[in-house]
Amino acid sequence: MEALRASSLSSFHLTKLSTRHCSTQFEKTNLNYPPSRRPNSALSSFHRNKPQFKLFNAISSPFLTESIDPPEKETEIQNPEEQFDWFAHWYPIMPVCDLDKRKPHGKKVIGLDVVVWWDRNESEWKVFDDSCPHRLAPLSEGRIDQWGRLQCVYHGWCFGGTGDCKFIPQAPRDGPPVNTFKKACVAVYPSCVQNGIVWFWPNTDPQYRDILLKKRPPYIPEIDDPSYTKLIINRDIQYGYEVLIENLMDPAHVPYAHYGIMRVPKRPKSVKADREGGRPLEISIQKVDLNGFTAKQQFGASTFIAPCVYYGFFSPGGIPDNGSASSASTTEGPSSLVSQKRALLVFFCIPVSPGNSRLIFTAPRNFSVWIDRVVPRWIFHVGQNLILDSDLYLLHVEERKIRDVGPSNWQKACFVPTKADAIVVSFRRWLNKYAGGQFDWGTKYSGALPPTPPREQLLDRYWSHVVNCQSCNLAYKGLNALEILLQVISFASIGIVAAAKQGMISAASRNTLVTMAVLCFVASKWLSHFIYKTFHFHDYDHAFR
Ligand code: FES
Ligand SMILES: [Fe+2]
Repeated sequence: MEALRASSLSSFHLTKLSTRHCSTQFEKTNLNYPPSRRPNSALSSFHRNKPQFKLFNAISSPFLTESIDPPEKETEIQNPEEQFDWFAHWYPIMPVCDLDKRKPHGKKVIGLDVVVWWDRNESEWKVFDDSCPHRLAPLSEGRIDQWGRLQCVYHGWCFGGTGDCKFIPQAPRDGPPVNTFKKACVAVYPSCVQNGIVWFWPNTDPQYRDILLKKRPPYIPEIDDPSYTKLIINRDIQYGYEVLIENLMDPAHVPYAHYGIMRVPKRPKSVKADREGGRPLEISIQKVDLNGFTAKQQFGASTFIAPCVYYGFFSPGGIPDNGSASSASTTEGPSSLVSQKRALLVFFCIPVSPGNSRLIFTAPRNFSVWIDRVVPRWIFHVGQNLILDSDLYLLHVEERKIRDVGPSNWQKACFVPTKADAIVVSFRRWLNKYAGGQFDWGTKYSGALPPTPPREQLLDRYWSHVVNCQSCNLAYKGLNALEILLQVISFASIGIVAAAKQGMISAASRNTLVTMAVLCFVASKWLSHFIYKTFHFHDYDHAFR
């Protein structure tokens, strides 16, 4: 929380990624893909329906040094080599620390329903199509049986880690081995664990079985460095991937949308500012290509690796750019970084469905590490959820307005005259030039956004976070139990006082019991309010901040 509060994205320092340390989930797995069950048949229709790519020349120079140019005419991109294939990349699903090995987990990622489960026979996380080959019941509602197989709880079919059907209870033991038929198998996605996150490759075609050997998810060495902390949070959010990632790329909103809950870098005394402290920002975009871009800022740089990763360094106190950024630009690994205080903000932004996304966020740092080891993770999540809530409604509404004008018209609809918006503009430029203007949902969705729910559901924390967070879940249950205990003590104390006959207990004891009853009752009420605000719903009113 403090790391998130203590920083904004305007103070990043540059680092390079390397692609090592990925623990493979399928290198030694003999995947068994039944052709009729391959989800990539749906993906094929996505690709068939790719829209024409267009380019808005919102930034005329690849290295932005002046204010942002107004949008210019569209340029069609015809070269297929320059087209971003949304389905040829690794996608993060969930942090391992928030997955329970005892049960399967259903997740939606890029419109695909997948089930993530721990295969104890191979000691690996597996990612399957969340659909039983028998009658399509969700496997994520199933269980892990005593032999470590994934069991569909509708009729009891059981599956091994390679997707093979191990057992069909209804098949006669002396009949044909129908469980060995290809159609009895579940489609398996290539998957791996990297940086403490389960990733999957969104195509079950056998040609991608060894995709990890050719292409790996982006790797952030500091997340795995034991000298850094690595508190992680996941949150489902009711606005889409595009709005999520551009918001994280926007340092200018931090002093306003998160006023009072995030620390912002001190401004020079010479710069005039309002109460919130907004000011001109020096941002330049160094490179926009098919794979993303890097943005240089006053104190460093941040990097977008398409489609999901946006990260950057910052140094507490804001070390100027004269060498610190370039010294961080190394592939030597974390050892070269520990000589000074450093922290990263790493965002994994996941498209879920139109109008829905998932954020996995971690802020590794190599100082004050003991705090994260002493303070439970859920305490940090209180502040991080508040930060996410504080601009959630703004972005939910903004997304609907972008939808109304059409995502590829973003640069026409928005007026972005200052360099403070340069990273956001570059992201939109990348989207329009290479990636079709938005995530490619193909024919799976109509393009309509879900209706806006009541505010209490929009900012709901329980279903969007608590049930998916091991730490918050445990704290939620523990605090609820404490609330009940306080009520029991309160009522029991009153009961004893009321039941005790005159002279049975002293006046001092009576007063003590009454005081305890009142205190416990007040504490339980306060705790009830705290639980609701922390784990369910905390409305956010900017007007009175
Ligand atoms: S639907 Fe899964 S066993 Fe019948
Ligand atoms: Fe949590």
